[in-house]
Amino acid sequence: MQGLILIVDDEKPTREGLAQLFADDFEVYTASQPAEAFNLMASERFDIIITDLRMGQQSGMSIIDKALQLPYKPKCIMMTAYGSIEIAVEAMKHGAYDFVSKPVQLDRLESIVKRAMLDKTEDLSPTPLQANTVPMVGQSVEFAEVLDKIQRVAPAKTSVLITGETGTGKELVAHQLHHLSPRSAQPFVPVHCAALPDNLIESELFGHERGAFTGALQRHIGLFESANHGTLFLDEIGEIDASTQVKLLRFLETKSIERLGGNQLIPLDVRLVCATNRDLQAEVKAGRFREDLLYRLNVVEIHMPPLRERPSDVRLLLEYYLRFFAKENGVRPPILPEEVKSILQNYIWPGNIRELRNFAENMAVMHSGKKIETSDLDPKFLAPIGQGEVSPTLEKSEQALISEALKKANGNKSEAARLLGIPRRTFYRKLERLQL
Ligand SMILES: Nc1ncnc2c1ncn2[C@@H]1O[C@H](COP(=O)(O)OP(=O)(O)OP(=O)(O)O)[C@@H](O)[C@H]1O
Ligand SMILES: [Mg+2]
Repeated sequence: MQGLILIVDDEKPTREGLAQLFADDFEVYTASQPAEAFNLMASERFDIIITDLRMGQQSGMSIIDKALQLPYKPKCIMMTAYGSIEIAVEAMKHGAYDFVSKPVQLDRLESIVKRAMLDKTEDLSPTPLQANTVPMVGQSVEFAEVLDKIQRVAPAKTSVLITGETGTGKELVAHQLHHLSPRSAQPFVPVHCAALPDNLIESELFGHERGAFTGALQRHIGLFESANHGTLFLDEIGEIDASTQVKLLRFLETKSIERLGGNQLIPLDVRLVCATNRDLQAEVKAGRFREDLLYRLNVVEIHMPPLRERPSDVRLLLEYYLRFFAKENGVRPPILPEEVKSILQNYIWPGNIRELRNFAENMAVMHSGKKIETSDLDPKFLAPIGQGEVSPTLEKSEQALISEALKKANGNKSEAARLLGIPRRTFYRKLERLQL
């Protein structure tokens, strides 16, 4: 038995069909509606959850949200009606691992599940340090700006906030910042805030003294102290609760911490790097995130542009990862004809580099040494939207925003860029691209 899988669908035939498909390799559970799934999720430790999107009036999105709050983070795969790519994008934003369109192609779903299980095992491995092994690949102007910023801020001690959609490389950047800093020989301590329940996060971060609370039988040294002289990486910082926010703020102000139940200030030399795929300004407005903390965290902000905004990187990354995975598997890399490359370049990659990497791994193994044909591609790549339907609408709204800003700024481009809150160079590039 490989692991535990949960299948959520309100249609009995789908549920039972899928249950049968995975019965050999998994212990399979099924649920016909979210409430039932939530109950199972509370009692079992699932590796994988496959959920339908629409179940009567209820949405499978709530399953993903719930699942990702669990400390063991199951990999969620969303099934959507064919063509509803926007929903798939939404699902990926919510943290879905991948998606399949309905009617489900069973071999595709099987290969996704297989990959998810591999990634799941990877999640558990104790050495997440990638900066030494995975180089940062990219050739676009946008990417060059990111690299430039990394190089400039890495040596400093200032807090850095890394923002961007899922899979854009935030964690990799955090590693790189540490790697290129004078602290590189000291610990790099990553903390996945969303994976820690609220009642644990404080004691995990700050440690506790013996007897600090029921069950605190021994003194516990927190992650802050483990990261002394090195870098503490707080991933998904938008998820931390109000009381932890206060403590973080206190650390940033005093450069020292106090263990729970302790009465002694412990001075520390820790560099804080945080990442989030949430809009923290909006979280501040909604009263969920402290404004004073945000200002202290994003002394420098590094924004990772989504892959669809840097199509030239898609090409380079594909070539890089096809070769990488071919080598890893001891096979010859597949050949990617121009026609297929251009389809892939126009696809919107809702899961960004993570999705591209998974795709490349699959192709490297399934088509080693052979030419990849258009017909080998999943329909999602060929959906009209991938061929640019979403871009015109995106472009249109961008165009409208830019025109409005220019009008407000009386045609002054620097001022318009400032109003939009984007760097001047980015603004000029956009003007050029949109031919304004
Ligand atoms: N520039 C890059 N070159 C090569 N590989 C990259 C690059 N950026 C990211 N990757 C790879 O893409 C995958 C996703 O990156 P990462 O985990 O850093 O994303 P993330 O922004 O932290 O995503 P999430 O918000 O979902 O946590 C990783 O396997 C990473 O190694
Ligand atoms: Mg991450």
